[in-house]
Amino acid sequence: MLAMHSALHVSDDPPAVLDRDLVDTFGVRYAVPLATARVVEAQPTNLYHYRAYIGPAAVTVERGDCVYLIGDDGESAVLRRGPTTIPSRFLATVIRGYMPEDKSTSIVQGTTLPYVNGCSTKQLFPPDRPGDPTLQLLYMPPHTTEQAHHVHSTARVVYILRGRGTSVVGIGAHTHHHPLVAGMVCILEPMCPHHFETGAEPLVCVPLHVFSSTGARELEHPMLHGTHILEL
Ligand SMILES: [Fe+2]
Repeated sequence: MLAMHSALHVSDDPPAVLDRDLVDTFGVRYAVPLATARVVEAQPTNLYHYRAYIGPAAVTVERGDCVYLIGDDGESAVLRRGPTTIPSRFLATVIRGYMPEDKSTSIVQGTTLPYVNGCSTKQLFPPDRPGDPTLQLLYMPPHTTEQAHHVHSTARVVYILRGRGTSVVGIGAHTHHHPLVAGMVCILEPMCPHHFETGAEPLVCVPLHVFSSTGARELEHPMLHGTHILEL
């Protein structure tokens, strides 16, 4: 059992009755950007280090590190290598020991790679080499599930860009549902059993893979290969 996760910092919007012990046990954190940034770091047990700034912050990035952030317009993504200090409005995640070139992209176009259950994806910032970190776009149509219940071997820092859905975390009777709405951040620690679901609305989110699993081909890309289905 994963019991090393620190206490969750969960916003009051949307309200939810959380079983803190359950969520702590499985390793998920939810937050909404507030007036001042909250900082969430990798757990001491993690293989790779990240630090996520949720909400407005001036983010300092050391030499040798880089930062992935959602642009101030809410419709773009930016990657900057350190050393630098960059303002962030919504979400910025610093990854230690990875320093690709600066990049930026809009995130207004659709997806390009098939995923599962009618979902699809696009690599906003593909891994430069197999296994490198990657920023993805995930589109979920209404009335679907992202996947069967699954885990990832590295952390996912997920920004909810548009729409609405539900995050399902846990095992069997020990399962917790939490609403996902635009502007929220959901951080899934390694090996957190989970999946997302949609109802009448689609859900569009931007997951950062804190180190990934492969490069990109039509049916061979980090979203598929970094997902390990649980047969419960
Ligand atoms: Fe997932």
